[in-house]
Amino acid sequence: EQAGKGGYDHFMLKEIHEQPTSLSQAIEGRIDPADGHLSLDGFEPDTFESVEDVQLVACGTSYHAALYGSLALNRAGVPATALLANEYSVTSPPVSEDTLVIAVSQSGETADTLNALRQADERGADTLTVTNVVGSTAARVADDSLFIRAGPEIGVAATKTFSSQAVMVTLLAQRIADDARGDPPADLESLLPDLSRMPDEIDTLLETSDADAIAREYIDSQAYFFIGRGLGFPVALEGALKFKEITYEHAEGFASGELKHGPLALVTPETPVFAIFTGEEDEKTLKNAEETQTRGAPVIAICPDDHRAVEVADDHLEIPETDSNLAGLHANVQLQLVSYYAADLLGRPIDKPRNLAKSVTVE
Ligand code: G6P
Repeated sequence: EQAGKGGYDHFMLKEIHEQPTSLSQAIEGRIDPADGHLSLDGFEPDTFESVEDVQLVACGTSYHAALYGSLALNRAGVPATALLANEYSVTSPPVSEDTLVIAVSQSGETADTLNALRQADERGADTLTVTNVVGSTAARVADDSLFIRAGPEIGVAATKTFSSQAVMVTLLAQRIADDARGDPPADLESLLPDLSRMPDEIDTLLETSDADAIAREYIDSQAYFFIGRGLGFPVALEGALKFKEITYEHAEGFASGELKHGPLALVTPETPVFAIFTGEEDEKTLKNAEETQTRGAPVIAICPDDHRAVEVADDHLEIPETDSNLAGLHANVQLQLVSYYAADLLGRPIDKPRNLAKSVTVE
């Protein structure tokens, strides 16, 4: 087992550091440099021409990637919702033959997600899975598959597969919008060059991150909050999920604007707030972060070095200047590291947290 960790103390840390490679693999050959058209694993031109709306179903970390994808689709002008797969049968959202249901699942074996996929299929929707495992049940059940090519992930807490899923659903969103609306979304022009820079930038981020110092500074806190807006919201949820999974500490993610509608009652000097800035109405997120500071909470801003939030915040984790479709994913890597180092300081069994399984194949 030690050999498999490639010199890292844990698989999780190894897999966090594999992200430059796994992201390169996810992107490779999928973007036509000539016209920016996205060629996704043999999908014919105009595959998604008739798509009217999209439902993304998933569980756990994959649900956060699904939520990320739904927001990317909405931004690109395609109606989309993300649903927890285990809620799909009770919610039973209407589908038509022009509905595309996308199951996002690292393993392709999660029972709840497979159930939702089968139901969508029975009800006449087109189905697609975004998964890491070729030959998985999801890949067999869905009409089409898009593989994230992240390589095996051993740590129970998903890290590199989340980044690759989020990148793939972002590309997919652009492609669906392009096919369904007949012209590529405006975002594509700045997204593609920033996407090709992303693996190198994540490499630099991993080398220069202050996450271990931040984890140490706040290790005695009572609870940990994560806030974000737009695409920063699923990242806030994912940051909190990762933190609670491996540290066993209380962590919650909120949409920044929701703080004032309840969560603010929890904020004290003992509850650090990690604020994610993605370039989407950042001034509002900063105001929300300042409201927590007024209640004594230390704020850790995750943003580029020259961002205004750096002056206001108590601490800072740096991400590069990049397209707002991707900024949250850089922030997520910083948060993965914070969770990892906090769990390590607390002596937790990082790769195998209590009560959790890598893949849940029962309902
Ligand atoms: C389990 C794992 C999570 C994972 C979820 C969905 O609960 O512990 O890390 O996000 O299943 O798994 P999937 O394979 O469908 O992405």
